[in-house]
Amino acid sequence: MITWDDKYSVGISSIDEEHKKFIDIINKVIDAKQHTDNSIEITEILNEMNKYVLTHFANEETYMIKCNYPEYDDHRKKHQDFSIKIMAFLDSVTKGDCRLACELLEHLKNWLVNHIQGTDRKYINCFKEHGLR
Ligand code: FEO
Repeated sequence: MITWDDKYSVGISSIDEEHKKFIDIINKVIDAKQHTDNSIEITEILNEMNKYVLTHFANEETYMIKCNYPEYDDHRKKHQDFSIKIMAFLDSVTKGDCRLACELLEHLKNWLVNHIQGTDRKYINCFKEHGLR
C-alpha cells in the first residue's frame, strides 16, 4: 500500500488532489489483488484506475502545453508507457497468470511513487512561473 505523504506534494493543489486519488485507486487494486484472484472484480477496479489515470495524464499534459513545458514529449511518453503496463497487467489477470500479475502490480506501484517524486517534480517551477498554484 502507498500512504500519502507531504514528500509526494508537487505544491500545486489540483495536481496533489489528483495524485491522492491516483494513490487511492492503486491501493484499491493492491487490496483487491491480495484478497481475490477473481479476475472480474480486479478488472472492474483496473478499468476505474485506467479511466482515472487517463484523465490525470490528460490534465497534466494540457498544463504542459499551456506552459510550453520543454520536457513535454518525454513526460508524455512515460505516461503512455504506464498505460501500456496497465493493459499488460489487465491481460495477465484475465489469463490467470498470477506471478506476472504480481510483478506488474509491483511495477505499477513503484512507477507511481517514482514518477510523482521524480518526473512530475520537474514541471513545478515551469507551472508555477505560469501561475499554477
Ligand atoms: Fe502525475 Fe505525470 O503524472
